[in-house]
Amino acid sequence: MFTSVILAAGMGTRMKSEMPKVIHKVCGKELVKWVIDASKKAGAEDVVAIIGHKAEMVKPVIENDAKIAIQAEQLGTGHAVMQAVDFIKASKGCVVVLNGDTPLIRPETIVEAVDYHAATGNSATVITAVLDDATGYGRIVRGDDGSVLKIVEQKDASDEEKKINEINSGMYVFDAESLVSALSKLTPNNAQGEYYLTDTLEILRGEGKKIGGFAIKDNDEIRGINNRIQQSEAEAIMQDRINKYHMTNGVTIINPSSVFIGAEVEIGQDTVIASNVTLTGRTKIGRNCSVEMGCRIENSVIADNVDILNSVILDSEVGEGTHVGPFAYIRPNCKVGSDVKVGDFVEIKNSVIDDRTKISHLTYIGDSDVGKNVNFGCGTVTCNYDGKDKFRTIIEDDSFIGCNTNLVSPVHLGQRSYIAAGSTITDDVTEDTLAIARARQVNKPEWDKNKYSSRKS
Ligand code: UD1
Ligand code: MG
Repeated sequence: MFTSVILAAGMGTRMKSEMPKVIHKVCGKELVKWVIDASKKAGAEDVVAIIGHKAEMVKPVIENDAKIAIQAEQLGTGHAVMQAVDFIKASKGCVVVLNGDTPLIRPETIVEAVDYHAATGNSATVITAVLDDATGYGRIVRGDDGSVLKIVEQKDASDEEKKINEINSGMYVFDAESLVSALSKLTPNNAQGEYYLTDTLEILRGEGKKIGGFAIKDNDEIRGINNRIQQSEAEAIMQDRINKYHMTNGVTIINPSSVFIGAEVEIGQDTVIASNVTLTGRTKIGRNCSVEMGCRIENSVIADNVDILNSVILDSEVGEGTHVGPFAYIRPNCKVGSDVKVGDFVEIKNSVIDDRTKISHLTYIGDSDVGKNVNFGCGTVTCNYDGKDKFRTIIEDDSFIGCNTNLVSPVHLGQRSYIAAGSTITDDVTEDTLAIARARQVNKPEWDKNKYSSRKS
């Protein structure tokens, strides 16, 4: 059991953004949310985020997921943790300190570090990494017996210390009481005039307490995001993890580097994801689906055995066995049933389409309730908007809409109604009725000869 304290008050100047760094995203999720979620998955009982720079923008993103402490002035990492001291005092187990800009930290690693900390009986355990180039990082200074003596910041390090390539990841596990006591003893007597959290280790060691280092295996996990290039690198690493998670679960991803799958997306077994597919938000794809090239699916629930090609589906549901595309556009708030066909160049918005209905080509259905087994001819348009208000179109089961029909809403077509091709329907049609709403054809014999006789000469 532990409390996680996440440092997220800094500016992030190098992002060159109006937005504070920690709410920039990787794989569709804010950097700080990744760290909050990793803490929770690792079993954190309490998560406290310390925010400061543009706190009003960070708070709404995380307030449902974490407790919040405000650091009004950024006087250093030690000063940041001091702002959470009440939460630390209330914590039951140890305290894990993480950074809001290191989204790649894995829950398993947090668990391992906490277990290591407990097993060694340390008061403080710093998570370390060995880097080829340690420039910029705090260095881990170890004694002859290998024990951690202190952490020295780049700016305070001697030439000898600068040669050390084991670095401080900025993540730690502390015994809560020891942390509280060491924080109260910090001073800003260093090159940057800041309260360094790193100094707590030397303070605790000076009090005869045990401190140690937990060396991380995968250095990617401690990657901090400071600019957009590092953000894109983290994105690639995270996307690779997400793709491999789905592939391990039995999803085929044909060209993984070309797909974008958001962190919250669920995909069923034996589904195939082709190239250039984007799945975002709370999208859930069933089993045995085929998501063909070029699809974008956002916040939508797709049942089993659905195939989708070159289409966009937003905030909607698609039932089992349905076929979508190519080039269909299912806009928000649609509920498409089972074994439906939504064919090429079909747009549907805010509508219910019941089972086995066929909308094969070039059709717009907006604000409509369509029953079962309805057949739409090519080029049907619901005229749902009069320039001021929107109205609904209701089409009951087993109706047949001829090609090139306009349905001027509000309008109601009863069961098994038939609409003649080329009709503009403005009045309701009762069940079992054929409606024809177009002028009769008039043939004018010898029209061409009379009208264009001069042209022919
Ligand atoms: C810190 C460590 C360094 C370590 C490095 C790892 C200290 C003194 N140094 O250095 O040993 O190698 O992280 O990346 O701790 N923050 C606040 N409030 C503040 C200052 C910082 O919330 O007043 C936050 C930042 O937003 C950031 C984190 O703390 O998320 C680390 O701060 P940063 O300024 O990046 O510390 P470094 O100099 O990189
Ligand atoms: Mg830093």
